[in-house]
Amino acid sequence: MNIVLLGPPGAGKGTLAGLLKDGRDLLHISTGDLLREEMQQQTELGLEAKSYVEKGELVPDDLVTKLLANKLKAAPEKTGYLLDGYPRTRAQAESLDTLLNQIGRPLGAALYLDADLDLIIRRITGRRVAPKSGRVYHITNRPPKREGYCDESGEPLIQRPDDNEETVRKRMKVYLENTLPIVQYYEDKGILTKMNGAKDSEDLEKELIEFFDEQAKLN
Ligand code: AP5
Repeated sequence: MNIVLLGPPGAGKGTLAGLLKDGRDLLHISTGDLLREEMQQQTELGLEAKSYVEKGELVPDDLVTKLLANKLKAAPEKTGYLLDGYPRTRAQAESLDTLLNQIGRPLGAALYLDADLDLIIRRITGRRVAPKSGRVYHITNRPPKREGYCDESGEPLIQRPDDNEETVRKRMKVYLENTLPIVQYYEDKGILTKMNGAKDSEDLEKELIEFFDEQAKLN
């Protein structure tokens, strides 16, 4: 079962992917996380990507697609993919079709989580992340048990450098121009499901798990 998670920054894609993959044979692939890893390791690709990510712009298609292709190739054969943050452009959507068709594992569904700008700003500016465990928190919506520290790894939580209001506004603009149009791409293919990303986490989680289990039965 291969699923794409679409939606504006802060809609909850990463949070929901984390919940969905628990107990399921699913590989969560976030191109944002892959890029941050490359940047942290100061690889050639990471150094090239850094200036785009920090400004809230899209990293060029060929760089991100290369990263994704490597990750897909390295994945165990029977694992489903939960793609978060890719595709973000029409060219990436087409590359993804090509990549998945080459390995004989086409996309089963595209989930579109929507949310408005005010909510997105509140969510992103309050987000705190644990770099090693990958856990995502929010200072009020999903606080850790001990303020400032990850429940799982105990490491200090950080705020992403691109999680400030100015960059969020830029990321939203980029999203509306480049990524929103591919919602139609998946609607035309008949595999799009829309969900209200503004809903309470618990309701959304329940709805998503039901959706996912239904899809898994069909595939
Ligand atoms: P990326 O890391 O993918 O960022 P994004 O798409 O902007 O998404 P976010 O991670 O900000 O949000 P999310 O939807 O995962 O929200 P989350 O679950 O954390 O990309 C970063 C950058 O990398 C891009 O700007 C670009 O430069 C580059 N890049 C990445 N992929 C690329 C590509 N394919 N092509 C080109 N460039 C690329 O939730 C946010 C907060 O809200 C959290 O604190 C969470 O606890 C809280 N929350 C979540 N859901 C709920 C809820 N239902 N109720 C209450 N609180 C909630």
